[in-house]
Amino acid sequence: MKKKPSKNKMWGGRFTSKPSNLLQKVNSSIHFDYKLFEEDIEASIAHAKMLAECKIISKKDSVSIISGLKKISSKFKEGNFKLNPELEDIHMNIEYQLQKEIGNPAKRLHTARSRNDQVSTDLRLYVRKKNNQLIREISNLQYALSKKAKAGYNLLMPGFTHMQTAQPITFGHHLLAYVEMLSRDKSRFIDCNKRLNENPLGSGALSGTSFPINRKITTKSLGFNKPMQNSLDAVSSRDFVLETISSITICSIHLSRLAEEIVMWMSGGFDFIDLPDNLTTGSSIMPQKKNPDLAELIRGKTGRLISSFINISIVMKGLPLAYSKDLQEDKEPTFDAIENFELCLQSMTAMITSLKTNQKNMELAASSQFSTATDLADWLVQNLNIPFRTAHEITGKIVKLCLDENIALEQINIEKLKKIDKRINKGIYKALNVKDSVERKISEGGTSPKNVLKQANKWIKRLENDK
Ligand code: ARG
Repeated sequence: MKKKPSKNKMWGGRFTSKPSNLLQKVNSSIHFDYKLFEEDIEASIAHAKMLAECKIISKKDSVSIISGLKKISSKFKEGNFKLNPELEDIHMNIEYQLQKEIGNPAKRLHTARSRNDQVSTDLRLYVRKKNNQLIREISNLQYALSKKAKAGYNLLMPGFTHMQTAQPITFGHHLLAYVEMLSRDKSRFIDCNKRLNENPLGSGALSGTSFPINRKITTKSLGFNKPMQNSLDAVSSRDFVLETISSITICSIHLSRLAEEIVMWMSGGFDFIDLPDNLTTGSSIMPQKKNPDLAELIRGKTGRLISSFINISIVMKGLPLAYSKDLQEDKEPTFDAIENFELCLQSMTAMITSLKTNQKNMELAASSQFSTATDLADWLVQNLNIPFRTAHEITGKIVKLCLDENIALEQINIEKLKKIDKRINKGIYKALNVKDSVERKISEGGTSPKNVLKQANKWIKRLENDK
């Protein structure tokens, strides 16, 4: 007698053979979507409870399903849950395991539900949880930056435009620029969670269900704000993933810019900062080397984070409504982006907390390269009532003279200055001191130490209150 072909245990009814090895290899997602384990159990418990409350399944079956799911959850946490690729994904792995655990009642769990609304629910729960974690990590980084900014509120350094020395600033001011960026970044994640927090469960495969379900019950137990209002949209939209990853992308670009600065500040040409040995690496050949790999990897990982956004955008762009299996391809880039971004945030916080500044070199650089030339022009305007454009021209001539004589602005003698413009007097030298220069920048948002200290304290207080 011919042996009956074995078929897929969860949907084999209309099939005469089981999936080929090739199909299984391409189709199976359990090796990555096991990460939705907790959410899948949580959503299934909510669903089973609701089915009983609406009298779609018996109370007895519901109780048995829920206790079985809880047992499976403990097994998973203990590492005793075997992932089976033949069962495709996390949803069917859990349901099959439930059958083994409690027998027939398990077969009622998938009433009025499809994997399509199930996976959309799980992923929303997962992304919501991760967004909250990321929000906390961003706050930690903001806190580390604000503390360092407070410590360096009057530490001078050169500010750059075009990577050329522009005007003196304080280190605290520089760090607080990132605190501001991160605060906008954080608000993007908060926003994502507001929009994604709607319940797809109960949308079935695509069209809803004929069972008398109550979606308000699962909405409440899963902490969603309301049931999604269109079943086609609910099973097939992933804009919540795109929105989250675009927020990750934007924030990672900010981290990458700071990482680039850390690399620069640590290089010999600058020598502004140092990182501890445990956050740097050595070279296998050059014994003297101490490399800022952590900062470089934050900068480097930005590439994969940006491409996750592009990846999922391309997956989505051609999909007709409603569900298509392409949607399974949303998970790996989502998990990868979230996990790597979290590592980037933690790494940056560790570096900022422990970096040491080299005051001497920073101050030396702050006062070099004619960094107070704008102050000189401003002095001409404020003291001699010269129009700014003319003052700019006069200052340009003074800089040119200094360049020709290879001296700094403050070394030029008064006679030579008077030759350029006879109205100039000795008071001008006061404009050239870097410390005075930053202290004069008292305009709102400016670099004056007084302003920076106030801002740092404001952020520290705000972040401490948020904890
Ligand atoms: N593993 C699938 C996914 O991630 C779950 C949904 C499967 N739905 C289906 N109709 N085959 O998208």
